[in-house]
Amino acid sequence: MTLSPQWLEELRSRTTLSTLIGRTVKVQKAGREYKACCPFHNEKTPSFTINDEKGFYHCFGCGAHGDAISWMTEQRGLGFMDAVKDLAAEAQMEVPAPDPRAAQRQEVRATLHDVMAAAQDWFVTQFNGIEGAAARDYLKNRGISEKTIREFGFGFAPDSRGRLKEALSVHGIDRLIEAGLLIKVDDKDPYDRFRGRLMIPIRDPRGRVIAFGGRIMGDGEPKYLNSPDTPLFDKGRTLYNLDKASPASRQTGRILVVEGYMDAIALAQAGFADVVAPLGTALTEHQIERIWKMVEAPILCFDGDSAGQKAAMRAALRALPILRPAHSLNFISLPAGQDPDDLVRSDGAHAFAALIAKPQMLDDKIWQVEYDAEPLNTPESKAGLKKRLADHVRDIADQDIAQHYRQAFDERYQAAFFARQERRPQGQGFQNARGGKFPSKFVSYKPLDDTRSFLIEGYDLQIAKGILGGLIRHPDQISAHFEELSAMKLADSQLQALLGELINAAMGKETLDMQGLLTILEKTDCYNVAKGLLRADALNFTFNRKLPDDAPSLLIERAHRDLAEAIKVVTARPGLEAALAEATRRVQDDLTEESYAEQQRLRKAKQLFHERLVDLTQIDDTV
Ligand code: UTP
Ligand code: MN
Repeated sequence: MTLSPQWLEELRSRTTLSTLIGRTVKVQKAGREYKACCPFHNEKTPSFTINDEKGFYHCFGCGAHGDAISWMTEQRGLGFMDAVKDLAAEAQMEVPAPDPRAAQRQEVRATLHDVMAAAQDWFVTQFNGIEGAAARDYLKNRGISEKTIREFGFGFAPDSRGRLKEALSVHGIDRLIEAGLLIKVDDKDPYDRFRGRLMIPIRDPRGRVIAFGGRIMGDGEPKYLNSPDTPLFDKGRTLYNLDKASPASRQTGRILVVEGYMDAIALAQAGFADVVAPLGTALTEHQIERIWKMVEAPILCFDGDSAGQKAAMRAALRALPILRPAHSLNFISLPAGQDPDDLVRSDGAHAFAALIAKPQMLDDKIWQVEYDAEPLNTPESKAGLKKRLADHVRDIADQDIAQHYRQAFDERYQAAFFARQERRPQGQGFQNARGGKFPSKFVSYKPLDDTRSFLIEGYDLQIAKGILGGLIRHPDQISAHFEELSAMKLADSQLQALLGELINAAMGKETLDMQGLLTILEKTDCYNVAKGLLRADALNFTFNRKLPDDAPSLLIERAHRDLAEAIKVVTARPGLEAALAEATRRVQDDLTEESYAEQQRLRKAKQLFHERLVDLTQIDDTV
């Protein structure tokens, strides 16, 4: 359908913008204009103005700007045509007749909407019926409340090939196939796609059901079966829960992006309503653009394991070519092996809130992933890092942004490999910095007083694992670090429990060797975890290695010293991160020489911590 500029102009002029906007936010007359608290960002004093004469709104706070149609698309989340139709109905204007093919497509979509609505009703009826008992139990076991069940419209598809087909037969078999509810193979009889599954409706931004995800309730493959793409449903353009998240994000100014349906649902139940999920694929450019219509820097929440981190990096790289000023992605990593659903269930909403309070910025994420990608102990590997970073910068289309990235990466690169050597006293040359002498390298950073409240998570949790394994091998070191160890709070309940047992064991015995410690642990729930840490080959600190009985004391001392270093870094780092986040905020609020210097100091400290850890994990045998 083509709408002429004249027709659109007429539509705008017949619409009173302040009245339209006044339905969603409170507007106040101010001279010839109207004022309101901006619905596109969070504010207490109004900087959002509406000019009825010119027919546009403008926010002096966040720059939001548009007319009646963009209000409907950007703020209310409607598609362009839906926005135009709603406005036209109100302005008593007739939308010009569409061309016949478009009209036909529209017709098909309308009937498919009816079919999907009927299917949703039917699945819900089955869910509430006798056969739905297993589905209801399943959700109960997963801690999903009655209220959440209703809000998210859970349903149940009975284990049958023909029940839905029969129940919805009035809609016609062809439509049911087109809606993706029936499967037709060659000339065989079409049959129900979803059988014996818990049904999760997927809705469009207006809340209409456009597809389903069906979860198997026991073991079996696939875990989730999804609707195929249909005239209503385009997987790569759809975001699960957008209909609820979009209005919620206007309150919070935030969007969380998680990997799975159940993550979105569990977070919503835990009070994070501003959450969306892609549908089992990596985030597409379309989806990123769609999210940017709501907020500038959504927070992507990925599993801390390597698959999750790969997915995070994939999203990061996909965003680079489409970055535009003020728009970006932020990241958090969950403890390995936990998704957001697991985390809020095991540790509560506050644990998740703590994670999203200090997300990682896009530039930092890319730097960190590339920096961690491989050991950087040769000139070639360091240059390799530089090249990978340059390649990423080249992907950024916006030249201003690209320039900032280039500079940010350069600074970090310089700091990582060159700044240090300048400070090195003459004559020390290329002395191996790892050999256990690190006086100039290790910044003494005084942990903040409230270190206790910081969670050790993500990558640091891996180090903490190494530390626990090290303490089991060197139990005499537990009491040496008593205070720091008791202040550690690990984002993994099993590891935290083990830490507690180690401290208990050390308190109870004056001298303790590994065998004695294992005998004590054997009586606790932590024994298997402890054994696992002794086995784990991923833990490659000096203190994780089995030393021969007659090991030279130098080797043992080295292990003890490294253990002390690792404990120091891991307990101080969360405080440092928080201080850095705070300093960065201060720089943004008020850029002064002092605030900038403080931020740079903390940045450098963080970098040095990081290098310290890298050095610790790169074992060489010269003591
Ligand atoms: P996950 O395997 O992480 O599942 O898949 P989950 O969300 O944690 O689910 P639960 O907690 O085991 O119920 C993440 C997403 O990938 C898609 C789904 O969209 C799922 O939410 N997926 C996964 C599929 O489409 N098919 C599958 O077989 C598995
Ligand atoms: Mn899950």
